[in-house]
Amino acid sequence: MTTTHPPLASIATIGQHEGQTVTLRGWLYNMRESGKLLFPIFRDGTGTIQGIVPKAAVPPEVFDRVKSLTQESSVIVTARVRADKRAPSGYELDVEDLQIVQLVSEADPFPITPKEHGVDFLMEHRHLWMRTPRQSAILRIRATIMRAAQEYFDTNGFVRTDPPILTPAACEGTSTLFELDYFGDPAYLTQSGQLYIESTALALGKVYSFGPTFRAEKSKTRRHLTEFWMIEPEIAWLELDGLMDLAEAFITHIVSRVLELHQADLKVLGRDTSKLEAIKAPFPRISYDEAHALLDEAYKAGKLEHPHQYGDDFGSPDETYISSQFDKPVMVHRYPAAFKAFYMQPDPKDATKALCVDVLAPEGYGEIIGGSQRIDSYDLLKSRIEEHNLPLAAFEWYLDLRRYGSVPHAGFGMGIERVVGWLCNLDHVRETIPFARTLNRIYP
Ligand code: 4AD
Ligand code: MG
Repeated sequence: MTTTHPPLASIATIGQHEGQTVTLRGWLYNMRESGKLLFPIFRDGTGTIQGIVPKAAVPPEVFDRVKSLTQESSVIVTARVRADKRAPSGYELDVEDLQIVQLVSEADPFPITPKEHGVDFLMEHRHLWMRTPRQSAILRIRATIMRAAQEYFDTNGFVRTDPPILTPAACEGTSTLFELDYFGDPAYLTQSGQLYIESTALALGKVYSFGPTFRAEKSKTRRHLTEFWMIEPEIAWLELDGLMDLAEAFITHIVSRVLELHQADLKVLGRDTSKLEAIKAPFPRISYDEAHALLDEAYKAGKLEHPHQYGDDFGSPDETYISSQFDKPVMVHRYPAAFKAFYMQPDPKDATKALCVDVLAPEGYGEIIGGSQRIDSYDLLKSRIEEHNLPLAAFEWYLDLRRYGSVPHAGFGMGIERVVGWLCNLDHVRETIPFARTLNRIYP
């Protein structure tokens, strides 16, 4: 580029160039016309901004070029940045020149117009749908959530250790395993890195893993994907209370980062940010028994359609009701061991309960974190593996962790998409990841 080009700017930080002429590279998002005035709206990946092109103010060929633009045509714009209180971004562009990089054909227009489309159509065009302001805002917030989550562990003495994705055995129950053929032997896509990072925790003290995890979820719900991203800390010498302290500090950090960096995106999403400002430690902590009592009362008062059976897991309406009772995430601990994972440490005060915690997000978003203290006794762990009909041979290495210097340890897993759904206030988890994988979708 020669020095005669005005400086390159991006929409998110356009205010730094107020009063200057800049170059913007982007796409036409939409255009309004009013007589001899054109109002093109440009997007560049960092946001959207409106330009103004009065016929009298630009050379006729520039006016004609802008007028010829179709939605999503790629362009290079030269324009002066002007503050405008009425504009959503606070600024507008007085367009001086515009080059077309590629003009989208009128005969084959961009399929997603600013009007309403059905969800199936949008998911079928996910590779294009993500260009729209809402979807772009969600993806930017997702990236910050992932970065803030890693940042919390990286700055608090945790070592990132990456577990394998191809595994010989189940971690979270055998009903949601994706099986594959590993050179003639069965293998599975990982459901969680937990078992492996228990070993890195006993090697390094405080560790975490972060990667894709897989569950062959055979039901359609607004909360389940078959491929999702989980971040999991695992800590030697930590017990349940310390684990809850960690979950609280971790979530608080993520929410504050999103609020700090994404006011404009949250506005695009219409998010009520006062609900997020309220997310400060401490979070309420209630036992499974206390949560059951809440549900029981709610059912008797006619606020719940079905009674919750003591001893059963919570259904989605139960979780929604429990979380609606608090304006912060609620930590439900000590569930019955009977329906929880094989590796959870029993409560010494009542062995029918597990030393575990689920964190339920407010506003009915349900479980965002599941975690527990792990069984540290060799004999107990071995008998649990047998009771759960898991193949002992595949877990010999895991039992070694209890043969050689076993210590109390604990950890949790947080699903990134659940948190994106909550913080962005979305109806369905399919919008929280660039390409959602669900029971009936693997395209595009
Ligand atoms: O509660 P889960 O199954 O716990 C574990 O996998 C433990 N091994 C984690 C650990 O202790 N290290 O899953 C953890 C979290 C859930 O709270 C939820 O946020 C998310 O992972 N999750 C899903 N997210 C989207 N789609 C699914 N099908 C999910 N299943 C779990
Ligand atoms: Mg769980």
